[in-house]
Amino acid sequence: MRKLYVVFPDEIGTIAPEIYGHFTEHIGGVIYDGIWVGKDSEVENVDGFRKFIIDKLKDIHPAVVRWPGGCFAETYNWRDGIGDERPTRLNWWTRSDGKYETNEVGTHEFMRFCELIGAEPYLAVNIASSTAREMREWVDYCNSPEGTTTCARERAANGHPEPFNVKYWGIGNESWEAGGNMSVDCYANEYRKYSELCRNVPGDKDLIACGPNTADYHWTAEFMKRMQNSRLRMRGLSMHYYCATDDKVVDFTKDEWYQVVSSAGYMDELINRHWGIIRGYKMEEYARLVIDEWGCWHPQGTGPSKGKNLLEQQSTVRDALVSAITLNVFNNNCDKVMMANVAQMVNNLHALFLSAGDKCITTPTYHVFKMFAEHQNGTAVKCCMDKEYITFNNKEGKESKVEDLTVSASYKEDAVILTITNVNADQDVEFALEAVGKKLAQDAVMTVLTHEDYRACNTFEDPDKVATYEVPIDTANPIVIPKASVVSIKASIVA
Ligand code: AHR
Repeated sequence: MRKLYVVFPDEIGTIAPEIYGHFTEHIGGVIYDGIWVGKDSEVENVDGFRKFIIDKLKDIHPAVVRWPGGCFAETYNWRDGIGDERPTRLNWWTRSDGKYETNEVGTHEFMRFCELIGAEPYLAVNIASSTAREMREWVDYCNSPEGTTTCARERAANGHPEPFNVKYWGIGNESWEAGGNMSVDCYANEYRKYSELCRNVPGDKDLIACGPNTADYHWTAEFMKRMQNSRLRMRGLSMHYYCATDDKVVDFTKDEWYQVVSSAGYMDELINRHWGIIRGYKMEEYARLVIDEWGCWHPQGTGPSKGKNLLEQQSTVRDALVSAITLNVFNNNCDKVMMANVAQMVNNLHALFLSAGDKCITTPTYHVFKMFAEHQNGTAVKCCMDKEYITFNNKEGKESKVEDLTVSASYKEDAVILTITNVNADQDVEFALEAVGKKLAQDAVMTVLTHEDYRACNTFEDPDKVATYEVPIDTANPIVIPKASVVSIKASIVA
């Protein structure tokens, strides 16, 4: 019998709740008609935000939300989004979808959204078309104590005397491309300048530097080199990785199923190689990775808006597997990753929700976040198992291999949670569970997310086609993980 060992004495670290973070950019249908419907809308809302999304988010404990971009951030003037007079501007994406930015949702509205769902805000700062002084004033506006500065008084006049106490600040977005097309040298200088100029503004701040795109190890190494003699260092280094670019969204073949799910596992190599560079510069004492954009980037046009919402895409069981494989990678590297933000929350790439007017549904990816939520603040422990591989044809038609299972485990108080993916499209997988160092209760519960058709997705007409179900299991007996599924197992620790 194949065995899965959960090695309790081999602790990896604490899983930061921020690893289960989100991203809402002013793009397509993410903000307008996504999270925001407006206070006067007939759609059920709380202070303008879609109630369905608020309620569902509360169930998955979203620790942090990144805003306002993405590329949008790099032409954003935060002053456009406060007060009664809100100008209409070109959005970074206007040329792609013809939509203009009304600034109806600005700093106060976003802070209210975070408050409603119990998340910390993570603000992405414009450094490509702004100044360090403008950032300094945004920090001042958000964080200065009541009545102290003109910015603080302005915040009060706009309805919020108490500081917002924003902790997470991202210095630029994708500065190597749309965020200013900078060389690493140029970006490092900008980072040094911006971090210095907001240093002595009130508030406990974690600054996040713009790190590499996917496997750009050169960027990481060169940036680290330029930070060595800086007196101000970043707390986080961001990395973006999208898998599945240009793939079919719903009507895919079995090989395409494997191509996409195997590309999700690449996240592990990316994290470990970038981490190796960070360690090489001895920065592991204070810096961690922030994967602040991740998910599948399929072609747009398959979501309910049929292309009206830029980058909107459907989400199938395959996207759920990508979510779970990625989150397992984050859990197993929680000593290196302090935050991650799935891109994006609604009506976009790898979304948790699809909405239009009064309709709103959860995608299979939402269910994965719910199944994994119990990992937050848990102590991650190592798992090992006999490996088995599945063979498939890659995009070039060459034979490739992918491991059938991924797993992560964490415990807190007197329970362990295991999350497992089985990418095998044809066969269930059976194994015996061996707990090393602790004893598990025999009676446990397994939650399963799958569908007989791995191309299945949720739609407005059939919103629960892909949903979870629970089965009681006996941890002393062989455990069966259904084909093409994500499962979570929660078991009590008895000794
Ligand atoms: O998530 C969509 C876009 O992808 C973001 O705006 C940008 O940061 C990335 O390239």
